[in-house]
Amino acid sequence: MKKQSKNVIWWCLWFVFALALAAYFSWQLFLKKEKTAFLIGEASHGHFQIEMACETCHTSPFGGKDILQEACENCHAEDLELAHDSHPKKKFTDPRNADSIKILDARYCISCHTEHQMEQTRAMGVTLPDDYCFHCHVDIGEERESHKDLAFDSCASAGCHNFHDNRALYESFLVENANQDWIKTIVALPLVNATSIKNTETKPALTLDEAVAPSAHMNEDILHDWEMSAHAQAGINCEGCHSTSQSQSNKVHQNNKKTNDIWIEKPGIETCKQCHQQEVATFKQGKHGMRLADEVSHPLSAVKPADSPSSASLQFHENALQKHQSCTACHSAHRFDREFAAVDACLGCHDDEHSQAFEASPHGQIWQHAIATNADTGGLVSCASCHMPRGIEKSGGETIVSVNHNQNFNLRPNEKMLRSVCMNCHGLGFAINALADEGLIRNNFSGKPSVDIPSIEWALKRENR
Ligand code: HEC
Ligand code: HEC
Ligand code: HEC
Ligand code: HEC
Ligand code: HEC
Ligand code: HEC
Ligand code: HEC
Ligand code: HEC
Ligand code: HEC
Ligand code: HEC
Repeated sequence: MKKQSKNVIWWCLWFVFALALAAYFSWQLFLKKEKTAFLIGEASHGHFQIEMACETCHTSPFGGKDILQEACENCHAEDLELAHDSHPKKKFTDPRNADSIKILDARYCISCHTEHQMEQTRAMGVTLPDDYCFHCHVDIGEERESHKDLAFDSCASAGCHNFHDNRALYESFLVENANQDWIKTIVALPLVNATSIKNTETKPALTLDEAVAPSAHMNEDILHDWEMSAHAQAGINCEGCHSTSQSQSNKVHQNNKKTNDIWIEKPGIETCKQCHQQEVATFKQGKHGMRLADEVSHPLSAVKPADSPSSASLQFHENALQKHQSCTACHSAHRFDREFAAVDACLGCHDDEHSQAFEASPHGQIWQHAIATNADTGGLVSCASCHMPRGIEKSGGETIVSVNHNQNFNLRPNEKMLRSVCMNCHGLGFAINALADEGLIRNNFSGKPSVDIPSIEWALKRENR
């Protein structure tokens, strides 16, 4: 009898233990291990690089759509706010609009952008049919003469409206910028300046002799490249990047082997971050650096290791397939040449029709002419002028100009480029038409637009009623 009850206890214990073990392993499996088997469907175009880092979106197994909402907002709320989102969540939590969410609950991102459903996912991760504006704006034809016979799947076509970002498309803006020439006076793009570097005491420039690294690492090419760079000008010597402790860099003058043990052979992104926070932060928000983002780059996401073009969806050069995404992918280790980074570096990897067409386009011709004649390229159009616009920030009486390193910041919908880029030089009407013309995007803007978007005309008509 006694033995039997002991057995029962054993069995119970064993059962509980086995259950705990099973629960532990399934949780571990969900979080850590081979997750491909659990992936219920490929992630969207925007997220496929992080699809194996399940917990960036599913931060907890409980909580349902509120948990997902929090994750979406964590990564995207700031951009939507900068975009002056026309349909923010608060519009739909307003009781006056309660009716509108009965059919389509626009408070939740996943009502329109669900995941793992590639067969119904369209551009920009939208998983709704094209004519969804209908649900809430069914009466628009009665309110506006111009909209009477329009189909509902045309509201959000190029140059008309977007659901979120209408910064260059709202009525008073269209009216204000009507009747402009195709080229306005060219406003020189703001030039990058030294004040973007906030947390360094810049030291006087060193001479080559003073800037000596451990002798094992001496190399004429490196010395030459460094000497020509903005870093040398600003007194950032070898140890500014290669030393484990920044404070040691004051001691460069004691050129000797004692400092050998703190020499880092290949400084990474964390080194750059010590002096260039803004650039590192924006780099991690776009497709180039998103795998390195703090939310993603913990050991769990190592399941899909290739942080190189070989796992991407666009066209790339064969020999670029194994290159790693990092600061030096464009800047190379010691030259840090901004002109090289703005075109040639891009073309070392990207090999699609649009990228290839740049050099023969009017913008590209002007750029190449300036490079060939050693002229100032500061205000000209390169890949980077469109894809990495310079941002201006005023802080404490200082104007800080820095480069946005998130190539997706103004990429889609492409009307995001109207104000941030094109309108520095072109009239609004011309630029709207150019960005709505798919042929022009393919040939990288060689020729005049072949489409004519009537938005400005309609806005003027209504204004003059
Ligand atoms: C970019 C964000 C994102 C990533 C990364 C992601 N998911 Fe999802 N997942 C979603 C969204 C959004 C839904 C849809 C929820 C809905 O429509 O109710 C979803 C739904 C699911 C569902 C269906 C159950 C449910 O909660 O509705 C499962 C299972 C799931 N995901 C597993 C995974 C696994 C496993 C991974 C990693 C291999 C992963 N997901 C990665 C966003 C993501
Ligand atoms: C870990 C950060 C992260 C999380 C969490 C996340 N995203 Fe993203 N998302 C990105 C990045 C990075 C991109 C690619 C760059 C870009 O397009 O802005 C992207 C792309 C997108 C795009 C496509 C944009 C385009 O131009 O193609 C949409 C739409 C989107 N996310 C919506 C969501 C929604 C909805 C959720 C919540 C279910 C979510 N994201 C969760 C980081 C995140
Ligand atoms: C009612 C549908 C709907 C809801 C709700 C919605 N979106 Fe979108 N989203 C779209 C559409 C449509 C686009 C395509 C571009 C456009 O029309 O603005 C888009 C585009 C985007 C983009 C691409 C960049 C941009 O600025 O347009 C991101 C990122 C994005 N959505 C994130 C989100 C996030 C995060 C949420 C939740 C806070 C959300 N969306 C809620 C419909 C929706
Ligand atoms: C879930 C309901 C819903 C959907 C779907 C929806 N809207 Fe709206 N929209 C609203 C509400 C609510 C307002 C605010 C009305 C107001 O303030 O009078 C609004 C306002 C607008 C405005 C006025 C803009 C502004 O800044 O005041 C425009 C233009 C607009 N929507 C266009 C669209 C287009 C185009 C689509 C489809 C891409 C769309 N909406 C989809 C509910 C919706
Ligand atoms: C110890 C601080 C420090 C570190 C570390 C550092 N930089 Fe710099 N960087 C500077 C300063 C100061 C300038 C000069 C600012 C100016 O003239 O605009 C500069 C300028 C630049 C420029 C502009 C070049 C030009 O021609 O205008 C680039 C690009 C750059 N750094 C990239 C990097 C990268 C990539 C890393 C990491 C490998 C890095 N920096 C590490 C301080 C630093
Ligand atoms: C602004 C930061 C920065 C400064 C200043 C700098 N380096 Fe480097 N250096 C790097 C980076 C980043 C790498 C790694 C390149 C890679 O990952 O391939 C590197 C790599 C090297 C290497 C490894 C060999 C190679 O080519 O990969 C040597 C040697 C070197 N640097 C020497 C120097 C010397 C000598 C100086 C001073 C004259 C110097 N570095 C100044 C950033 C810097
Ligand atoms: C995709 C190519 C590319 C990558 C990757 C890249 N940069 Fe740049 N960077 C550029 C270009 C192009 C410019 C100059 C743009 C201009 O002159 O308008 C630039 C300019 C800069 C500048 C000078 C302007 C400013 O903002 O102060 C700094 C500093 C800089 N980059 C740092 C970095 C750091 C740090 C990283 C890694 C996180 C990095 N870059 C990764 C292309 C790149
Ligand atoms: C080391 C190779 C490499 C270099 C150099 C490089 N890129 Fe990329 N680029 C990529 C990869 C990989 C992606 C991600 C593609 C994806 O996720 O589908 C990408 C994505 C992009 C995207 C977003 C595409 C999309 O559909 O969302 C743009 C825009 C872009 N790059 C422009 C540039 C520009 C401009 C430069 C030069 C200033 C540049 N790239 C330099 C490899 C590179
Ligand atoms: C005058 C502005 C402009 C210039 C210059 C420019 N682009 Fe673009 N690029 C765009 C626009 C607009 C799009 C399309 C965005 C959309 O509608 O999806 C685009 C799209 C892209 C894409 C994404 C393609 C895709 O299918 O997702 C890449 C990659 C890219 N450009 C790289 C480059 C490179 C590399 C250069 C220089 C060799 C360059 N671009 C020059 C404006 C420009
Ligand atoms: C820094 C000034 C500048 C910016 C920014 C700029 N452009 Fe241009 N663009 C020019 C100049 C200059 C020309 C060539 C004019 C000429 O050939 O006489 C040009 C030519 C063009 C052409 C070709 C016209 C033809 O007849 O072949 C198109 C299309 C165009 N731009 C579209 C755009 C678009 C779209 C944007 C924004 C994404 C943009 N540009 C940004 C200055 C600029």
